[in-house]
Amino acid sequence: MITYRFPNKVVLVTGSSRGIGAGVLAAFAKAGATCVLHYWDDPAGENRRDAERLDEQLRELYGTQVTDTGGREIGRTSPVHLMAADVRDAAQVEALMKQVKETCGGLDVLVNNAGIIRDRTLKKMTLDEWHAVIQTNLDGVFHCCKYGTEVMRDGGRIVNIASVAGLMGFHGQTNYAAAKAGVIGMTRVLAKELARRQITANAIAPGMIQTAMMGEVKPEMLAEYIKAIPAGRFGTTDDIANAVLFLASEETNYVTGQVLPVTGGWV
Ligand code: NAI
Repeated sequence: MITYRFPNKVVLVTGSSRGIGAGVLAAFAKAGATCVLHYWDDPAGENRRDAERLDEQLRELYGTQVTDTGGREIGRTSPVHLMAADVRDAAQVEALMKQVKETCGGLDVLVNNAGIIRDRTLKKMTLDEWHAVIQTNLDGVFHCCKYGTEVMRDGGRIVNIASVAGLMGFHGQTNYAAAKAGVIGMTRVLAKELARRQITANAIAPGMIQTAMMGEVKPEMLAEYIKAIPAGRFGTTDDIANAVLFLASEETNYVTGQVLPVTGGWV
């Protein structure tokens, strides 16, 4: 069995203060990577508090002990650097990537995970709901890829968290499905453009994964989905983290421009 290790690798996971992003970041910290815990500093400060809590947990689990001359532990260094940016804002993302370069020396793995849903049928969807999802889920990925590849070392990895919605399309998700299908198209182009730098770009299409985002889906829809999933269960953040580490590893350097569904056999 391959146990992936990422020592001396710098990994940035967007929107990693909670949910799938937090699970992916924790898996990289466990695998020895230097991790950038990126969060959106929302006005209520909720994401910052989540980010600080996760940083504390990862410091405890995977931090390096600092001891005094008597060998007693006096603290721990964290494998995590906290950095804030709104992915919708190109200037903030450019500044974030400069901060990654200055703090960590460069970037090896970029996981574009930040995303939102604003579900409503075409008839009822407002222009604000359309733009909010496109700006976060599609423009945000473009900004991170554009400025992230400027600081990425050759041989790097891009893993975009798309969705089965971008492959199949679900009722009430014109905005979300369009953005995720756009991310898949972008991934295929990045694979071609970045191959000369030995950078791979792949996408993961999760099915239904148990996070706060799932709480925004109507219970009757969830009941329908579970009936359609051959594995008979919703996915976990670990299911996605395992797939991300696989695509970010050295061993998959000949896999690029692909979409990997992680759906329990749904798609
Ligand atoms: P979540 O809502 O728990 O996490 C989303 C993260 O994105 C949060 O940390 C949030 O702060 C961040 N974010 C939102 N707007 C941002 C902005 N403007 N700038 C920076 N960060 C921002 O959701 P979850 O479930 O963890 O989703 C993560 C990714 O996985 C998303 O891209 C989502 O579309 C995708 N996905 C999730 C599925 C699920 O069933 N949970 C299924 C398929 C895809």
